[in-house]
Amino acid sequence: MDNTILIKNGHIIDASQGLDGVGDILIKDGKIKSVKREGSGVRSQEKEQKLKTQNAKLRIIDATGLYVLPGLVDMHTHLREPGFEGKETISSGTMAAVRGGFTSVCCMPNTDPVNDNETVTEFILRKTYAEGACYVFPIGAISKGQKGEELAEMGMMYEAGCVAFSDDGHPVMNSLLMRRALEYSKVFHVPIISHCEDLNLSDGGVMNEGTVSTFLGLSRMPAAAEEVMVARDIILAELTGGRLHIAHVSTEGSVRLIRQAKERGIRVTAETCPHYFSITEEAVKEYNTNAKVNPPLRTERDVEAIKEGLGDGTLDVIATDHAPHHRDEKLREFDKAPSGISGLETALSLSLRLLHDGVLTMRQLVEKMTLNPARIMGLRRGTLKAGSEADVVIVDAKREWKIDPERFASKGKNTPFHGWALKGMPVMTICKGKLYE
Ligand code: DOR
Repeated sequence: MDNTILIKNGHIIDASQGLDGVGDILIKDGKIKSVKREGSGVRSQEKEQKLKTQNAKLRIIDATGLYVLPGLVDMHTHLREPGFEGKETISSGTMAAVRGGFTSVCCMPNTDPVNDNETVTEFILRKTYAEGACYVFPIGAISKGQKGEELAEMGMMYEAGCVAFSDDGHPVMNSLLMRRALEYSKVFHVPIISHCEDLNLSDGGVMNEGTVSTFLGLSRMPAAAEEVMVARDIILAELTGGRLHIAHVSTEGSVRLIRQAKERGIRVTAETCPHYFSITEEAVKEYNTNAKVNPPLRTERDVEAIKEGLGDGTLDVIATDHAPHHRDEKLREFDKAPSGISGLETALSLSLRLLHDGVLTMRQLVEKMTLNPARIMGLRRGTLKAGSEADVVIVDAKREWKIDPERFASKGKNTPFHGWALKGMPVMTICKGKLYE
């Protein structure tokens, strides 16, 4: 970036430096040049004038009344490329990311071909370099073809740039394979991200097992299908000392198991997604395929437990599980429609409801969407420290808006939040030297 940006008078929150107060941020050549807090030498008018004379292209952004945060980090995104470009591409997905305030996303390997070898990893990185609006960090598959039978070439993929391993979309049913993956995670210092689902228990179910499924006559997956795998993986993490991260936590029982494991000092981290603390299985009524997601939407009790888990630190991260699908696929009968919610462009606003409802402080919220995912994935992101990439999002926590998927940059218009009126949104994202507003 050959121009200079001065963001003035914003409420800066940066957990990596313990910053929580009004100040200015100066960006130069795509890097954070300095962060000055109010009362600690905030630029005087004279200094500002000097900056203007030195930088013909100086842009000044008045962020009075707005939050200025490190660019958000999503550790669970489906970008669909290669193979499913009808659902999303690296270009459209990363544009959706910056629109949603994200400057780094980690993409899941359930593409076609599966990202289970370095050729696919390199393809994703090359495509991102050419077309990506934000940074993309690939996640490699644990097993070849995500079939759960044979370990993929984790070492080669790590060398090529994979930052974690996961068979997301599918569980690793074979416990020995999961044990080996966790052992390797120690060698490469990367997390193993587990999609927790016992396929025998979920038995082809398409929604949560409960009163709504009985009412609708749809096949069901019990909470236990998730929880037995959370329990298994915690046991394997204890056995191996490997780095376990539990993806998309949706049930009260999972929260309890993770809390207990953390109390016992087992190395486990966990994420949930906005849909698991915003809506329940009731959203599936009328056979709404846009509310079909895996794991499925649960009950009010689970929603409360998820919020509690976020509040007490059991759940470290809010991830999107951005899972775009083509409109025609979601128009199929409920049983046949694919699972997933397009989440990048609604995640921050839905999460801000937790702030408005007093569930989380802004600082906790920022940690769960920046520093915590960056740390778990080993990324030098989620910080505004001088010298780091100028990944910044400016947030108006008061601005009211309505969700309209037709306005998404994502190709995936599949959201159960269509028409929701929300308070708070990202108003500007700065990434890779570009400003999106
Ligand atoms: O709902 C989901 N959709 N859950 C997953 O685990 C995978 C994802 C997808 O890839 O569509």
